[in-house]
Amino acid sequence: MTATAEQQGRAAQLRAQIEQHNRAYYELDAPIIPDAEYDRLFRELQALEQAHPELLTADSPTRRVGGAPLAQFDPVRHAVPMLSIRTETDTEDSGALAFDARVRRELGLGEADPPLEYAAELKFDGLAISLRYENGMLVRAATRGDGETGEDVTQNVRTVGSIPLRLRGDAPAVLEVRGEIYMRRDDFEAFNARALAAGEKLLVNPRNGAAGSIRQLDPAVTRKRPLSFFAYGVGEIDGWTPPPTHSALLDALLAFGLPVCAERVVAHGADSLAAFHREVARRRMTLPFDIDGVVYKVNSLALQARLGFVSREPRWAVAHKYPAQEALTELLDIEIQVGRTGALTPVARLAPVFVGGVTVTNATLHNEDEIRRKDLRIGDTVIVRRAGDVIPEVVGAVAERRSGSERVFAMPEKCPVCGSHAVRGADEAVTRCSGGLFCAAQRKQALLHFASRRAMDIEGLGDKLVDQLVDNAVVGTPADLYKLGVAALAALDRMAEKSAANLLAAIEASKQTTLARFIFALGIRNVGERTAKDLARHFGSLDRLLAADPARLQQVPDVGPVVASSMAQFFAEPHNREVIEQLRAAGVRWEEGEAQASVSGRLAGKVFVLTGTLPTLSREQAGGLIEAAGGKVSGSVSKKTDFVVAGSEAGSKLEKAQQLGVSDHRRGGAAGPAGE
Ligand code: IVH
Repeated sequence: MTATAEQQGRAAQLRAQIEQHNRAYYELDAPIIPDAEYDRLFRELQALEQAHPELLTADSPTRRVGGAPLAQFDPVRHAVPMLSIRTETDTEDSGALAFDARVRRELGLGEADPPLEYAAELKFDGLAISLRYENGMLVRAATRGDGETGEDVTQNVRTVGSIPLRLRGDAPAVLEVRGEIYMRRDDFEAFNARALAAGEKLLVNPRNGAAGSIRQLDPAVTRKRPLSFFAYGVGEIDGWTPPPTHSALLDALLAFGLPVCAERVVAHGADSLAAFHREVARRRMTLPFDIDGVVYKVNSLALQARLGFVSREPRWAVAHKYPAQEALTELLDIEIQVGRTGALTPVARLAPVFVGGVTVTNATLHNEDEIRRKDLRIGDTVIVRRAGDVIPEVVGAVAERRSGSERVFAMPEKCPVCGSHAVRGADEAVTRCSGGLFCAAQRKQALLHFASRRAMDIEGLGDKLVDQLVDNAVVGTPADLYKLGVAALAALDRMAEKSAANLLAAIEASKQTTLARFIFALGIRNVGERTAKDLARHFGSLDRLLAADPARLQQVPDVGPVVASSMAQFFAEPHNREVIEQLRAAGVRWEEGEAQASVSGRLAGKVFVLTGTLPTLSREQAGGLIEAAGGKVSGSVSKKTDFVVAGSEAGSKLEKAQQLGVSDHRRGGAAGPAGE
């Protein structure tokens, strides 16, 4: 049946598209579409050409294996062509069954004949390469190119550590080794982490990392890329008789010092091939590198020769692929998730897409900068990838598919959960909700912190209970804890009357506290226990603290701009002030003191560091005396340190103090106020 005009048009369109993608992938190292999408176009064209042979043109991309060589690399003619293998993507065992049946038919084997022996291997996802060794020395490395002519990438391949420059043992006059250059997933992650930190361009995925690195014109760039290599076959051989099977051939390559993947088996018959396929599928995610399938090869080299080739593919091998790990879908929206520390994380809502064996509907986008770097816009067609781990990732947008109606994402100015201001620190990648105690997403953590031993010390208020209280909307803020009654608690799961009573007693007891504990309990970012104590001592009263502006806050020893600004943000939230008032109204109380600025203690405002063994007092006792006199004890020496009290065997702190020119007071040493 001759092709319709429509089919002719479609074939021409597919050829043009595939050529464009070939160029983007092979020559520019900048793929526009995921492999699965490319494969789909390629298969559609193949099917059209098979059904209507008159559509097959001399320049059809189906007639060649890859892209033309880059002008800048010297062309290398392969003595033995680098062929492709037939690829099947069935998820069932039918791939193995069909392959075995076909091979047996070609060899004229009948039912009565024994099962055929196969070598089953992994299909590595990288870049095919041919290594030419002459008298054991690596003389040339070439890419596949169009299968007949590749590119001379010797300089780059020499930078791959696992590729021997000289073979071990009795090397043949000529040995061409065929294999795959790839990038391990951990190497890929580490490379990208470094690139991210250095503000450099990230690699899209391990496969592109491998392919792009080998095709760099500057070998110095390649050298920095962590590449690996596995041998899986041979090309030209001279002066050596290879062993009779493919599996033994790989063993021989291993003995020559070439890396050969250990994940391979000799299988007998179709069932055993299918079992290998299933087993590898199960373990695929735990392999240290990406594969896109398995490869079955007739093990006997003599039988391989008998089977020969059809068009450009050997009859003796087939690749059995796994479902794609990358797919295209639509970025429907970017939503904000509020984490337990208030971090606002943008999450991609995706049109459901089946990728790597699961349906993906969302993926984290990490932070604002990441979205900008990838230039993702709402409404974009995006590439979604499931890598070795299970977390799906949005690789990038297909800019060519934009209609113009896509929207640029902006981080919200308010927390989507509680409406508080969202704040991003100058040097931070993360935007945070400033809602603190009020924000539902942060409530549980805040409540646990509030109740913790060093804060309000409410015994018995553990995370299970907090989960229930918050999830059932019994408690929203710490102030609600003081409104709890027996009835509300008894309604909770596994809450016996006795424990309810104990909890209520602990809550009641917590009302009598200290200002320092209360400040710490509020859970203000960057305000730890020590800072809370300093603040309490410095201001003496909560109202004075609430009234302080950042400049005033920074008068407190050890309070710098970071702490001051997170406090200012916290107290600027009306919700936080409201909770504080409710707590006071519920009876939470402490003894207030004078503001330290007016404290007349002899050591007011002075910062001490105690080190070494003091002659008559323990360091804790000495610290207590200093604090009682209005001084402050710090754990480490800094420019704010006024005095170092050094006992015997004082070590590095004293040295540091001397470097900084701080006064010290030792027995028999220079006199300082602390000892007087
Ligand atoms: S054998 C004549 N074995 O898959 C047969 N190829 O089209 C030559 N590949 O890009 C290929 N792992 O680089 C073979 N264990 C393996 C392979 C493998 C990955 C790649 C090869 C080529 C494609 C085959």
